[in-house]
Amino acid sequence: MYGGKFYRLLHPRPTVVIASRCPNGRVNLMPASWNTPVSEEPPTVAVAVEREAYTHQCLQHHRYATLNVLPIDAADLIYKLGTVSGRDVDKASQFGVNLEPSTKVDVPRIAGALAVYEVEVYKEVEVGEVTLYIFHVLETWAAPGAADQWGFDFKKVNIPLHGAGRAFYRVDPKPVFAKK
Ligand SMILES: Cc1cc2nc3c(=O)[nH]c(=O)nc-3n(C[C@H](O)[C@H](O)[C@H](O)COP(=O)(O)O)c2cc1C
Repeated sequence: MYGGKFYRLLHPRPTVVIASRCPNGRVNLMPASWNTPVSEEPPTVAVAVEREAYTHQCLQHHRYATLNVLPIDAADLIYKLGTVSGRDVDKASQFGVNLEPSTKVDVPRIAGALAVYEVEVYKEVEVGEVTLYIFHVLETWAAPGAADQWGFDFKKVNIPLHGAGRAFYRVDPKPVFAKK
């Protein structure tokens, strides 16, 4: 039996920052690395959100959100966003995060994001201490020059893959091509 927490061997994982609209009138920001695409038709992505996180309450209050992929340079910010709760602080103003209007949802996106998904809650699955939020993707956006049809151009940009605790990894920009 592996000696660490069981999920460690499924890390590092791309991290998104969920922006949600909360009962206290604020926009809240929470990093989440337990996320995955689910289906192509309809286009859905799922994120596991602890029921204790304020974001959970916010998603119950307002059913739309943005999922923001920030650059690796934002690792410090991402970590900080994951160490305090929007119940106690206005994270956007405390950490100087600039927000911009979205196109399809009434929840802002994070300025400087490399990519943004605008989403609506589609289904919720209760599992242990989390709710697996399955979101319908209403809009996708990538920063100009950051991505082509195959995804991010890692020669130009890099994204935070969350390892454990404060450790983040980059994507190696050199692909390994499998033989035909
Ligand atoms: C890099 C990183 C990834 C995280 N991933 C998740 C996750 O996928 N699901 C989750 O429930 N919490 C995750 N957390 C913890 C939450 O971000 C943390 O509990 C946060 O303070 C909740 O904020 P809120 O109460 O304002 O919603 C992560 C934290 C970090 C730093």
